[in-house]
Amino acid sequence: MAAKLAILAVLALLGSLSCQTTYGYGYGGGNPPPPPPSNPPTSRSPPTYPPSSPSTYPPTGPSPPTYPQAAPSPPAAGLRVGYYDDKCPRAEAIVRRAVRGADAGVKAGLVRMFFHDCFVRGCDASVLLKPTEANPQPEMLGIPNLSLRGFEVIDKAKAALEKKCPGIVSCTDILAFAGRDASYFLSSYAIDFKMPAGRYDGNVSLASETLPNLPPPFADVKQLKDMFAAKGLDTVDMVVLSGAHSIGRSHCSSFSGRLPPSNTSDMDPTLAAKLKGDCVSPNGADNTVMQDYKTPNELDNQYYLNVLNHKVLFASDAALLKATDTMRLVYAAAASQKLWQYKFGEAMVKMGGIEVKTAANGEIRKMCGFVNKAY
Ligand code: HEM
Repeated sequence: MAAKLAILAVLALLGSLSCQTTYGYGYGGGNPPPPPPSNPPTSRSPPTYPPSSPSTYPPTGPSPPTYPQAAPSPPAAGLRVGYYDDKCPRAEAIVRRAVRGADAGVKAGLVRMFFHDCFVRGCDASVLLKPTEANPQPEMLGIPNLSLRGFEVIDKAKAALEKKCPGIVSCTDILAFAGRDASYFLSSYAIDFKMPAGRYDGNVSLASETLPNLPPPFADVKQLKDMFAAKGLDTVDMVVLSGAHSIGRSHCSSFSGRLPPSNTSDMDPTLAAKLKGDCVSPNGADNTVMQDYKTPNELDNQYYLNVLNHKVLFASDAALLKATDTMRLVYAAAASQKLWQYKFGEAMVKMGGIEVKTAANGEIRKMCGFVNKAY
């Protein structure tokens, strides 16, 4: 019996070490979760939000929460709202119809896919390219992308658009509209913004470019700021877009390092114990849990309340309380659903302008999974 326990302890240690030494977390890429908890979490009682007495808001005393008020950034060069109005008038409606038909989880997947596309080589639909003989390791096979979902929605919209107006609507714009529309539906129509269009599709897609460009779930606040700044997005954009973690799911491998017994994290102990249970899997499968324990299918500012209450999955979510500026922005978003919704739309548009391609260096793909001519 003692020998069995010792072996289990060594396996647990190796499990957590291998997690730490590869990527820290599995990104939903299939790492088995660590063994079940041997001892339940104890003592800490987490701070709650909103605080019981209004006089303690904001509790740590920074000045009242505000977003820096800047004029909204203009659309990226070459993009404009209504781009397809004359070329393919039903384009946006066709995408919206395809997105409307998807379930809530797939809609969440589309919001994430748009982000993952734009952060690697710019918004150019490189994330949609499938492996081929000429390019066996495209972005979609990169570790952070193994858990993406929603490709079939893009393909469905593209097929309908190719029937209606062949060769006109880029896969990149379809993905940008789909990310916008998924936000619209998941926010019960409250996040409602116009997405400029006119992007062309790229023809390079490399799995090796995913990890260096997509922030990992164990990122600290400096790494998050730096990785967003590298894409021309500021700290406000970063905090505001993180609100997308109020929808969808995560694989346990993406946060298991924050759970007991290796819980050096500040996660609320009740949530940690619950997640620990949800992640137990007798057959070693990488289970999934909802990101927002409270309103899992609503794109809303509940995420920021969860951050304040230490009820978030990733170290990168918790990190938003570790710098004064990001903490203030978290309070601001928690305090005003409307303002956050508006800023979210603005930041999605800004993200959609990252390194967009033109006719000079891109194409309009016929099928979203393949470049027109193998390169
Ligand atoms: C700030 C840095 C970010 C990090 C470190 C991060 C990391 C992650 C991770 C690890 C997952 C879970 C994947 C899995 O295990 O299945 C996830 C899910 C998700 N992320 Fe992020 N993310 C970040 C920013 C964003 C942004 C900017 C957006 C969109 C605007 C976004 C939207 C989502 C959505 C919607 C899901 C759920 C997807 C689904 O249910 O299929 N994330 N993120």
